[in-house]
Amino acid sequence: MATLDGADLLLFSSNDYLGLCDHPKVNEAAIDCVKRHGWGSGAARLLAGSMPPHMELERVMAQFLGKEAALLFNTGYAANTGLLAAMMGRGDMIFADKLSHASIIDGARQSGARLARFAHNDPQSLEALLQKAPARGRRLVVTEGVFSMDGDIPPLREIAAIARGYGAMLMVDDAHGFGVFGPEGRGTVHMAGIADEVDIHGVTLGKAAGSFGGMVVASRKIIDGLINFSRPFIYSTAMPPAAAAAALAAIDIIRGEEGEALRQTLFRNARKAGEVIKGAGYDTGSKTQILPVVVGESEEAAWLSARLWRGGIYAPAIRPPTVPQGTARIRLSITAGHTEADMEKLAAALAP
Ligand SMILES: Cc1ncc(COP(=O)(O)O)c(C=O)c1O
Repeated sequence: MATLDGADLLLFSSNDYLGLCDHPKVNEAAIDCVKRHGWGSGAARLLAGSMPPHMELERVMAQFLGKEAALLFNTGYAANTGLLAAMMGRGDMIFADKLSHASIIDGARQSGARLARFAHNDPQSLEALLQKAPARGRRLVVTEGVFSMDGDIPPLREIAAIARGYGAMLMVDDAHGFGVFGPEGRGTVHMAGIADEVDIHGVTLGKAAGSFGGMVVASRKIIDGLINFSRPFIYSTAMPPAAAAAALAAIDIIRGEEGEALRQTLFRNARKAGEVIKGAGYDTGSKTQILPVVVGESEEAAWLSARLWRGGIYAPAIRPPTVPQGTARIRLSITAGHTEADMEKLAAALAP
């Protein structure tokens, strides 16, 4: 529940998929950390800002996702821009899905590498671009685990095979898949069984992990390169250690029994919400916790959002340029905290 402009509204637009933003263990970890280390970090990581929770989080995430090393950035946005701009450069090529998140596009532009965009979730389109690409320079294919505005999961195995076949590295930004999918919530990369083929595994901690920050999980060589060359990492004050401590507590929950139970509740709620949307005469192609209701023009999306508001539901309209022209939508995001009664309220608000 949220209070907006004096109205009590049910939130259907939060990325707090497992309800960890306000979990007692996560809150306690942050409070304990403040008592031990204070609130602020006081400096950038390479000066005096590196504190035990930052380093422990990097160790735990590398181990959890089965890679040699991990690096913590202050946000997922900074992780994506900081990674791409540092790793890729003039003469290189980045192949990104057409619906890639703004942070991927901005990072690719900052890098100076040539950016080619393949049709959404379309391995053949990716292959056609790779075939035409010049032989020189490095190649990086970038996709997401769960697309943030469409809620769909790409054919990761096919994409990985094509990237490998054309000598390209592969990056998967699993901002919305980490904590939700795969064994122990390790994300869509592990669900697809391609962890060894993914060179760069991106994770944000502000969504299912209910905390804050972004991580790049990769080989020791890539992480060392970022420590030395990634500007958002080098030239920014380290995040408050309590945010890292909260993320550590969240990961502990995610990989344990409670995490599994929360995921099952989340999946059940998402299935139910999908039925509610279809029952109201709308179509949603998604099978994840992100359920877009695409209506077309911005005015229609604003109208539907206002109707939901009157029915006690908060789900803002998503309009171009965040999504392509003609695909304005309501993006319903489902959490483990939603109840049967919430679904009934959604059904009533959506009813024609
Ligand atoms: C796919 C994707 N990558 C990166 C980000 C950025 O993450 P953060 O909110 O931690 O900056 C987001 C969401 O905001 C996202 O949806």
